[in-house]
Amino acid sequence: MPLFDVYPLYDVTPVRAKGVHVYDVNRKKYLDLYGGHAVISIGHQNPVYNRRLKKQISRIGFYSNAIQNPLQTQLADEIEAQSGCTGYQLFMCSSGAEANENALKLASFQTRKSKVVAFKNAFHGRTSAAVAATDTPKIIAPLNAQQEVVFLEFGDEEALAKTLSKEDVCAVIIEAIQGVGGLDMPTEKFMKKIEELCKKHQACLIADEVQSGFGRSGKFFAFQHYNITPDIISMAKGMGNGFPVGGILVHPNIKPWHGMLGTTFGGNHLACQASLAVLEVLKKKNLIEHAASLGEAFVARAKNIKGVKKIKGCGLMLGLEFDFEVGELRKKLIYDHRIFTGGSSNKKLIRILPPLTLKQKHFDQFFDALEQSL
Ligand SMILES: Cc1ncc(COP(=O)(O)O)c(C=O)c1O
Repeated sequence: MPLFDVYPLYDVTPVRAKGVHVYDVNRKKYLDLYGGHAVISIGHQNPVYNRRLKKQISRIGFYSNAIQNPLQTQLADEIEAQSGCTGYQLFMCSSGAEANENALKLASFQTRKSKVVAFKNAFHGRTSAAVAATDTPKIIAPLNAQQEVVFLEFGDEEALAKTLSKEDVCAVIIEAIQGVGGLDMPTEKFMKKIEELCKKHQACLIADEVQSGFGRSGKFFAFQHYNITPDIISMAKGMGNGFPVGGILVHPNIKPWHGMLGTTFGGNHLACQASLAVLEVLKKKNLIEHAASLGEAFVARAKNIKGVKKIKGCGLMLGLEFDFEVGELRKKLIYDHRIFTGGSSNKKLIRILPPLTLKQKHFDQFFDALEQSL
């Protein structure tokens, strides 16, 4: 039976991984500056992660959300302690799209309204409301297109005020650093305006931290670079270091009722252990501070590379923009230099999303390879 052929594939078959490297079937070693799409946060085969998961699977791997699972409470407490998001409530699911789907649904329950404001180049996932709030028309099926979504430019305060003044918007959803879109960031002034207008017009402010959360931006959440307080925060990717874990943090002003949200797999024992391992390692190894300072060193070196037009992002969520399309350059980096990088919907941008355990010497290796390839 053929696979449903929706992914363009590189001709590399990883069979093993360790730290910031993956190894293919021919034992060739690759430097992973892509982190399996920003997923690998604490490194491949982290011993704490492996130990926690092995121990948990030998006891109980899964049971439904109809029973007590103290690991969920433990995880909620640890996220609260490390993120500083005091008083929020945790709801767990299994992917980024599902996190945003639940965030949007919750906003609609809370406000009894249905229109969504999202931003140009946004990516929020591929489920119903999440894909409708994604600015890529070709992945929106007619079924999804029934959702009412208005896409605005970052910085367009006037359009934002006008749209919200109609009092029919349930949520404004925003990536504090755009991922798939190409690492654009709103200004602090605009972020504050969104917060102010959401409050004024009773709309929920949703921070999509699926890619930028769990330390990748050099703060626990990327919205914390702006000093705002979202109503709902969506998370996934780095939260589980490869185990499918997602979730939303819900502001204390939003009250739950039984049956309001639900999922079979979300928050299972293994998922909780994967995320607890991530948090344990983030704290023990000071990986968030490390991501911030390594990101600064990256920017400093990138400034000296001829041909780089723009350096984008922060922490270990970075992009280099050129004045040509980077598809061939990324192929050279993979096949000639054995370095994985990421692309984005901005075809001129290379995305760098490595495990947060990366070291300066790995960036040196990347820049040497980049200079040769250019
Ligand atoms: C910001 C953002 N939100 C949501 C998603 C969707 O996450 P998932 O692929 O886990 O459904 C992604 C995935 O790339 C993302 O970058």
